[in-house]
Amino acid sequence: MLQPFNFCIMELPFAESYKIKMVESISRSSRQEREQWIKEAGYNLFGLSSDKIFIDLLTDSGTGAMSDRQWSELMLGDESYAGASSYFKMKNAIGEVLGFEYFLPTHQGRAAENVLFSVLIKEGDIIPGNSHFDTTKGHIEFRKAIAVDCTIDEAFDTTLDHPFKGNIDPVKLENILKSEGDRIPFIIVTITCNSSGGQPVSIENLKMVKNLADKYGKIVVFDSARFAENAYFIKLRENGYQDKTIREIVLEMFSLADVMTMSAKKDAIVNMGGFIAMRSKELQCKASVYNIMFEGYITYGGMSGRDMNALAQGLYEGTELDYLETRIRQVEYLGKRLMEFGIPVQQPIGGHAVFIDAKRFLPHLPKEEFQAQTLAIELYLEAGVRGVEIGALLADRDPVTRENRYPVLELMRLAIPRRVYTNNHMDVVAVALKNIYDRRVTIRRGLKIMKEAPIMRHFTVSLDLA
Ligand code: F0G
Repeated sequence: MLQPFNFCIMELPFAESYKIKMVESISRSSRQEREQWIKEAGYNLFGLSSDKIFIDLLTDSGTGAMSDRQWSELMLGDESYAGASSYFKMKNAIGEVLGFEYFLPTHQGRAAENVLFSVLIKEGDIIPGNSHFDTTKGHIEFRKAIAVDCTIDEAFDTTLDHPFKGNIDPVKLENILKSEGDRIPFIIVTITCNSSGGQPVSIENLKMVKNLADKYGKIVVFDSARFAENAYFIKLRENGYQDKTIREIVLEMFSLADVMTMSAKKDAIVNMGGFIAMRSKELQCKASVYNIMFEGYITYGGMSGRDMNALAQGLYEGTELDYLETRIRQVEYLGKRLMEFGIPVQQPIGGHAVFIDAKRFLPHLPKEEFQAQTLAIELYLEAGVRGVEIGALLADRDPVTRENRYPVLELMRLAIPRRVYTNNHMDVVAVALKNIYDRRVTIRRGLKIMKEAPIMRHFTVSLDLA
């Protein structure tokens, strides 16, 4: 007779919602080689050629793997100078997924900022927002205007677990609207907020911003590079959104904006591309002049037809729940491993990257020696992993006093490219950082600046050991 036996049904583990059809080799190097290379690069990770990197977490921008469908779309690209079918494919995707009637293609996100801000910003203006991204701030300051950060205070305490650390503080926003209303052409909301750690903004908060904007007669612009990741967090964390689809949430989010700028290199999963979308035909008309001057004719704006096709396809794929779940769970996986090792990170873990709190990691180094950049260099030396500094180097100098600006948060970002690395790669990164964390007291020298550009210096700055 058969004996009954004990068993328990295990829950199936989570796995990627895709399989791999093409691979690219990456190579390891020795610590000695890396010491030489980084010295030659002026201790600036942007200065390294990619063959000297094992795992590249410099950015999630333009570094994703396109799908078989996106590659197929490339073959269908229409390269007509004017009125290409690819333009209309992009127009349809923007209408359907994002709900905007008018748009202008641009070659990437900062180009969208350049074109739009040429219409909207004049010298002396003030642009309130939630921790403006560096190119956004750069384009504002280049026009001698001022970016005012109205992010909630909770965002600046990396130990606080707040579900929407990208939110705008209504009191800060209304105060500036009240006192400086005449100088404010628009409010900008970055979704998700890159600078505060890939942190989302809630629908409730977006509604608050829209209400205040209406009250003071201002328009609302979304900097939308990671809008789909923002929608995913809303579905996960905001009351009343659990049963809505990502597409429904995306449409609701954008119904609260008048204009959006988009770096399609993130959530549209293309290697290059961007656009501005708007509800006003008049604004499109005004911006067209600058688009033609800086980017290209209004039906391609710096993009080839094949790229517009891939972008359109990417907007549909980037807003699929399966894809987003795979993506964000991988970022969370790395974050959780680091937290298990006791490494200080921005909590909760953001959508596109894990942000290490360098002030808490290297508290014995003075801020003048650029803690986050020092940590990023250490990580490269340890394992050939490239992260990026989001701290005092990136914060640049005050445009008026020319003094160094030291932001509240001094972070090293590990941005995860979409559909590119496996969790084995994440394990390498986590263990490399654990090794550095264990010997952190032995890191006694930070860095000093040898040469820097007048604006956006972090890209080209040359450093040496302090
Ligand atoms: N807005 C946000 C929120 C961004 O993160 C970026 C780029 C841009 C605008 C500019 O777009 O690069 O296409 O010109 N962020 C990249 C990063 C570079 O690494 O976070 P772009």
